[in-house]
Amino acid sequence: MTTDAKRIAIAADHAGFALKQRLEAVLAGLGYDVEDLGTNSPASTDYADYGHPLAAGVSAGRVPRGVLLCGTGLGMSYVANRYPNVRAAVSWTPEIAELARRHNDANVLVLPARFVDDDTAVAILKAWLDTPFEGGRHERRVVKIERSPLAGDHTP
Ligand code: RB5
Repeated sequence: MTTDAKRIAIAADHAGFALKQRLEAVLAGLGYDVEDLGTNSPASTDYADYGHPLAAGVSAGRVPRGVLLCGTGLGMSYVANRYPNVRAAVSWTPEIAELARRHNDANVLVLPARFVDDDTAVAILKAWLDTPFEGGRHERRVVKIERSPLAGDHTP
C-alpha cells in the first residue's frame, strides 16, 4: 500500500497536457501513487474544470498534495487558492519551488507549462517534492493565511 506521503494528484488544461504526461511518468518512476484528474488530450478545455476537483481534494485532505499545469500557471493558481488550506505556488525555477515549500508549506505546485522547458519542469517538481517545510516563524505566517478577516476564518 502506498503511504499518504507518496500520494499525489495531477491535473492540467490543454496547455499543460503534454507536460502533465511527462511529469506523471516522473512521479510514477519515483514511486508516487498518482491520481490523474485530466485533461486527457490536447483539445481545448477550461482550466477551472480541472483545477477545482484537485484543489477540493487537497482542501478536504483526501489527497495530501497536487500538481496543476496551465499555460501561465495563473488561472490554475487563482482556482486552487480559493480553497481553504490550499497553498498553490506558481513556480518557474527550482529555487522558487524550494522556497514555496521551505517558507510557505505549499501543498500544490503550479507550473506555467508554456514558460518552462521539460527538464526545468522536472527539476522544479523534484525541488518541491524533496524540500521540507521549515516551520518556526514561517508556521506562524502560514497559519495567518487562513485568518484573513476578508477571506473568512477557516481555522477549525
Ligand atoms: C489557455 O490558452 C490559457 O489561457 C491557460 O492555459 C492559462 O494560461 C490560464 O491562466
